[in-house]
Amino acid sequence: MGDANVNPWQTFAGAPLVAPSLLACDFMRMGEQIAQVEAAGARLLHADIMDGHFVPNLALSPGLVASVRKATDLFIDVHLMVTDPLFFVEPFLAAGASSITFHVEAQSEPQEVIGRLRQAGAGVGIVVRPRTPARTITNLAEQVDLVLIMTVEPGFGGQKFMEDQIDKIRAVRDMVGPAVRVEVDGGINVETGRRCRTAGADTFVAGVNIFQAPDVKKAFRELQQAVQTA
Ligand code: DX5
Ligand code: ZN
Repeated sequence: MGDANVNPWQTFAGAPLVAPSLLACDFMRMGEQIAQVEAAGARLLHADIMDGHFVPNLALSPGLVASVRKATDLFIDVHLMVTDPLFFVEPFLAAGASSITFHVEAQSEPQEVIGRLRQAGAGVGIVVRPRTPARTITNLAEQVDLVLIMTVEPGFGGQKFMEDQIDKIRAVRDMVGPAVRVEVDGGINVETGRRCRTAGADTFVAGVNIFQAPDVKKAFRELQQAVQTA
């Protein structure tokens, strides 16, 4: 964990980033698959946390994130899809999360979550579901390091990219300026990744299209190349 009030995302200096989503791993081969994306040039991993309440699915625990932290020094980008983000901040900080992103539709008081993350020196992200308009985050956007725009309904990997989120990406980029990262998550491949990049995204979560590709390293490199050159 870093120093309080430091934005750990600054270590990437604004470079476009592909964040492989651990949800799509073969969990029996997770260490091997993390090593593959790391060797291909990944600088971060995306970890989806689901509580079976905010979304109708369960995924990844603090214990699993702690095991990942032991296996790698990569930045860990935690995405909390939980009803009570404040409750889960401590266990995921203790597990070694580098940054934590929470849904503005969840029940915690956003200021409390942001304050706790800042105090710990972790990155601070907010995320909106597809049907939540960009204007909802106008006041919070200036207090965070990252805004995540869901390009599918949260809860499951392997869904189809929602084209109608492109305008929101543009609106959020206009709102936050260049210093805040704009991340997209869901249905990202070479083609949708390029379009999101053109609209202003700089951080691209991809699960199935990396970890379930026939060649994980090649899939990572192709997506990275696509978003770097778009
Ligand atoms: C979905 C998760 C995503 C998921 C994306 O709720 O937030 O991170 O892993 O999966 P793909 O890239 O397979 O659409
Ligand atoms: Zn996610």
